[in-house]
Amino acid sequence: MFLRLAGLTGLAALSLLGQQNDIEKLAPYYPTPESVVERMLKLGEVKPGDKVFDLGSGDGRVVIMAAQKFGADATGIEMDADLYKQSMERIKSLGLDKKARIIRGDIAKQDYSSATVLTVYLLPSSNDKIRPLLEKQLRKGTRIVSHDFMFKDWTPVKEEHIEDDGEGRSHTLYLYIVK
Ligand SMILES: C[S@@+](CC[C@H](N)C(=O)[O-])C[C@H]1O[C@@H](n2cnc3c(N)ncnc32)[C@H](O)[C@@H]1O
Repeated sequence: MFLRLAGLTGLAALSLLGQQNDIEKLAPYYPTPESVVERMLKLGEVKPGDKVFDLGSGDGRVVIMAAQKFGADATGIEMDADLYKQSMERIKSLGLDKKARIIRGDIAKQDYSSATVLTVYLLPSSNDKIRPLLEKQLRKGTRIVSHDFMFKDWTPVKEEHIEDDGEGRSHTLYLYIVK
């Protein structure tokens, strides 16, 4: 069917649709293997009472494991409608809705001031973009676990290298603690 929107057709209408979605994609969807998710949450010493935020939550695997296996209250932020729906359905089907949720929105427009742990798997340039927001909002003692990419100007308190995740991929995890 020919796309028609506000009197415009074809590409012009598509570009208008694009403008309506003003969220900048900070990384493509590329899920962390479950075994690595567990290592991230262990590195962040996630425990009951923690408030975990996963920035760009994909299919919700970090949020779900943080709530189900580590007993934390967990929130994911995800811009993609299908991934949002899929992860919320899984949270509901597992009966985790009181402890876990996904916000459909922009990573760069959230309030992380209640967080005790942040998990991040974004691109280096995206870490640069969100760093000022995190520096403004995060409380002293908040742990940040970043998968594969460092935050410029921050010094990790721990690094963990995983040579082989079982599928031949290596990973590096960085733990930062807000001073
Ligand atoms: C590399 S994937 C990581 C998924 C998940 N955290 C994991 O480790 O399995 C990055 C995710 O961030 C989402 N994303 C990228 N930019 C975003 C933004 N500005 N706001 C919300 N989500 C975003 C993508 O749709 C994608 O699902």
